[in-house]
Amino acid sequence: MQVDVVTIFPDYLAPLELSLAGKAREKGLIDVRVHDLRQWAHDRHRTVDDTPYGGGAGMVMKPEPWGEAFDALLADGPATVVFTTPSGQPFTQTVARDLATRERLVFACGRYEGIDQRVVDEVATRAEVREISLGDYVLNGGEVAALAITEAVVRLVPGFMGNAASLEEESHEDGLLEYPVYTKPAAWRDRAVPEVLLSGDHGAIAAWRRDQAVRRTAERRPDLVPASVLLDDVEIRPVV
Ligand code: ADE
Repeated sequence: MQVDVVTIFPDYLAPLELSLAGKAREKGLIDVRVHDLRQWAHDRHRTVDDTPYGGGAGMVMKPEPWGEAFDALLADGPATVVFTTPSGQPFTQTVARDLATRERLVFACGRYEGIDQRVVDEVATRAEVREISLGDYVLNGGEVAALAITEAVVRLVPGFMGNAASLEEESHEDGLLEYPVYTKPAAWRDRAVPEVLLSGDHGAIAAWRRDQAVRRTAERRPDLVPASVLLDDVEIRPVV
């Protein structure tokens, strides 16, 4: 998979080029390239923003540098273009699994009040476009979202994770939060590991884990649990 990231803060993405890409690069699985948007701004100050038409607070990212960035990057071949924005589709494990099937992702990291809408509309005529939000809160820009999305996606690329089974058992993979986990020692500060985990009874362990996962999800994320599996004895209260 090739991942391109366009940003006015290339240093923000340094961790991608180091650890994550390092491991995946060694295996020949992903290739990350970070691009400074200002290389496509041609005035003396390399301006990338301007005041919004219609008035209002803040600045909007100008279309011209973005247009040139996509002309250059999409000339290399087809890609799925991800605009990170708080007004996008919420990012979930399902979205991560979908993006992990793409050959190439190009992240466009917006800053300020966002990117001129014509950029999104124009790119959509020549590439698959996804507008994705990391969550219902506002970051200063899309860089952290691009980092998080890339990390979640790249670990799903076949061959990246050593142990495929550990992927399947994680939080969100089956629509539930993960059950609690324990390791040695069996007793620590007067706290014992749940007995069933020491029993060697794989059926009982699987049933206990499933029950714990449902319980946890019902308590912490009732929005994720289908009504049919809600437990009678779990009090559902709003998460604050
Ligand atoms: N840019 C600013 N806030 C964001 C968010 N919540 N998700 C994605 N990109 C963003």
